Amino acid sequence: MSADADGTAARLRLRLAAQGLEWPAEIEHTAVSPSTNDRLKQRARAGAAEWTVVLADAQTAGRGRQGRRWSSPPGNLYMSVLLRPAPPSARWTVLPLVAGLALAEALAAEGLEARLKWPNDVMVGGRKVGGILAEASSGADGLESVVLGIGVNVAVRPHDLPPEVAASVTCVEEELARAVDRLAIASAVLARLTVWYHALAREGPPVVQSAWRARAVPWWGRAVEAQSGGHRVRGIARDLDEGGALILELEDGTRAVLHSGEVREVRPARD
Ligand code: BTN
Repeated sequence: MSADADGTAARLRLRLAAQGLEWPAEIEHTAVSPSTNDRLKQRARAGAAEWTVVLADAQTAGRGRQGRRWSSPPGNLYMSVLLRPAPPSARWTVLPLVAGLALAEALAAEGLEARLKWPNDVMVGGRKVGGILAEASSGADGLESVVLGIGVNVAVRPHDLPPEVAASVTCVEEELARAVDRLAIASAVLARLTVWYHALAREGPPVVQSAWRARAVPWWGRAVEAQSGGHRVRGIARDLDEGGALILELEDGTRAVLHSGEVREVRPARD
């Protein structure tokens, strides 16, 4: 199918308009893309405007964090958004968290009890329903662009995903026991993203930090294990710092500040 032959981009634009948002840039839709992030990075290099959106019905080379593959059959949401944050760049390190927050809020608006697991997995009942792949490009003058890739399991049932992920994921339609329009989720994510992006520009990272904390899985004060930078660290989850790093308190009382990685809760062994 050629680009937006079925009017998906136009429908998304109408949904945004119905929420009072005249979308300020192009929305590109294709039936199949290797990866919407790769496509949008290519568009960014060619000068695409801030807030350009790329949407696909399926991806053939979808990518997740930490070099993982993101299985992308038709039925789920695959969307990337281009930002061109103004200096200073330091405040923008929380952008991946902003995207997670926007997604969790969009799903909550559909009626899901969505929670954030650091750094930006969106969870429902302990299973993953969506994730964010944020990719920044810098030049001689600092940060040039950030592509926020958003993947949401909307309609594809976990047993139709690869066996290595099936047990740890869920999908929106199964959780809500009803059909859900991907574009309703897409437009809600974009609307919340604009709100948080402007709040971050105006008020700085603390505004994101506190909203993120309030939507996090309830593990503050609990034992967690993190895989970060090739190391395994165990500690008590204490806080999120202003840059979006996770702070753990280690057994010897010192603190570990994690900037990337994967974290899981460790339940104490029973006697
Ligand atoms: C994660 O590992 O949790 C992040 C998954 C991000 C997947 C999305 S789908 C749209 C965009 N294009 C990609 O190739 N990846 C992101």
